[in-house]
Amino acid sequence: MDSTQSRQDYFNDLSGRWDGFTDGERVRMALRKALSTVSIDQEEHVVDLGCGTGNLTSVLTEILGPGGTITAVDFSGAMIEVARNKVRDPRVRWLVADAARLPLEDASIDRVICFSAWPHFPDPSAAARELFRILRPGGMLHILHINSRESINAVHGGVGGAIGHDVLPSARDLAGVLRACGFDVCEEVDTDTAYRVAGEKVV
Ligand SMILES: C[S@@+](CC[C@H](N)C(=O)[O-])C[C@H]1O[C@@H](n2cnc3c(N)ncnc32)[C@H](O)[C@@H]1O
Repeated sequence: MDSTQSRQDYFNDLSGRWDGFTDGERVRMALRKALSTVSIDQEEHVVDLGCGTGNLTSVLTEILGPGGTITAVDFSGAMIEVARNKVRDPRVRWLVADAARLPLEDASIDRVICFSAWPHFPDPSAAARELFRILRPGGMLHILHINSRESINAVHGGVGGAIGHDVLPSARDLAGVLRACGFDVCEEVDTDTAYRVAGEKVV
């Protein structure tokens, strides 16, 4: 079994229990706070990459206006099913797809937000190139976690199995990956309480 398949199986199996591991309201509050410093236009087309059970998707429905859209992407069909039953909003389109192969048009997206999913992508450069492709010129990519990098990596190591070696790199190293794909990196936060890397697609 290849590593993508074993990760997919892992997350499909986790889908029914994921919301029990976290306090959803606390997560959504932390997301609202993290996004309060980001100027999101009400009419944007936003991708929630690695949407899981839809915590960020739900917060984005609060932020966007009637003309905004959210494409919520996850390679786990089971995660998407949980999310679809929680977040019922006509502005959300659900998509089962891999981060490195997105069935989305070139330059069609204003913003990609990847919350708590980046360490699981086996080829981060391939994912970054794909996100660069789908973003419009001036579009933004945000890679976001609401815990420290050390704590996230410790959790993955402790869980072991399919995700045991999934590592969130330092913000500095991730910024290098984004720059190599053409992003202009404008935020690098890697502290005891937060992790955020953001880049703009410049052409
Ligand atoms: C730790 S969960 C976080 C889910 C959600 N963002 C949240 O915080 O509640 C990571 C998510 O990323 C998804 N994922 C992992 N690798 C992926 C890939 N290569 N392409 C798309 N989704 C992926 C998993 O299926 C899972 O739903």
